[in-house]
Amino acid sequence: MFRLDGQVALITGGTRGIGRAIAEIFCEAGAKIVLVSRTMADGEETVRRLRQLGGEALHVGADVTQETDVERAVQAALNHFYQIDILVNGAGITLRAPVTETSEAEWDAVMNTNVKGAFLCAKHVLPAMMEHYSGVILNLAAVHGLKGGAGVTAAYTASKGALVSLSKSMAVRYGPNGIRVNTICPGFVPTDLNKHLIDDAPDPLERRREYEAGYPLRRLGTPQDVAHAALYLASREASWVTGATLVVDGGLMAK
Ligand SMILES: NC(=O)c1ccc[n+]([C@@H]2O[C@H](COP(=O)([O-])OP(=O)(O)OC[C@H]3O[C@@H](n4cnc5c(N)ncnc54)[C@H](OP(=O)(O)O)[C@@H]3O)[C@@H](O)[C@H]2O)c1
Repeated sequence: MFRLDGQVALITGGTRGIGRAIAEIFCEAGAKIVLVSRTMADGEETVRRLRQLGGEALHVGADVTQETDVERAVQAALNHFYQIDILVNGAGITLRAPVTETSEAEWDAVMNTNVKGAFLCAKHVLPAMMEHYSGVILNLAAVHGLKGGAGVTAAYTASKGALVSLSKSMAVRYGPNGIRVNTICPGFVPTDLNKHLIDDAPDPLERRREYEAGYPLRRLGTPQDVAHAALYLASREASWVTGATLVVDGGLMAK
């Protein structure tokens, strides 16, 4: 069950946090991995780790907001592994600010990374998938894409809502081409993206307990919680699942 033997997965943001956990779990399931991110040192370190796990991996230094970078990364993946079966759009940034405290440049940075980046990667990977009449695209959105939350992450919330909608549009358009497109919406998973919310509190342990108390399962998520959901959605066992939005959030959205 849930094997990806011989498949090639291109994972943006695969060098840290949730993306890295997806890379490791996909690698253990038999996939060959192409990591795309900007920081070369993180890429090299993650490639070493995936090779230790017995897998094949490649890192391409690229910025997903730049179309020429994305084209180069996709071409490098195809030159190295000859195919791309799975695209995970994991690269993302966040911003904690309501509308009145968000600059135009901050808005553009969040939308360009979280929405345009996913669009550009899909645009350049889809032709290779269509040629083989198969493929899987997973977009990492967030519970913030489904609700307003505390109202203090305007651009981030808008970007993740857009990603949920983009996924559905692609699922409908490319379903007849044998391509599935799904979204995962995680709750709070402490990573480099957001762990300052806990670490910078006067009493970090107390702050963590406050966050945990808001979750019906009374704990925050781990990168592996999300990666296992990604593995299911990427696998053959999910072959009739497309256009879906899978919430992985310890019960938060049920409240
Ligand atoms: N952690 C959470 O609580 C949570 C919850 C819901 C959804 N998510 C979503 O899950 C995804 C992963 O989050 P995370 O917590 O794992 O974040 P993270 O630990 O900060 O990792 C982000 C990754 O994205 C890459 N990245 C950022 N901007 C990029 C760009 N312009 N081009 C290429 N790569 C870029 C980073 O590498 P470089 O900086 O080296 O480029 C890094 O590998 C994000 O889309 C996030 O919004 C996270």
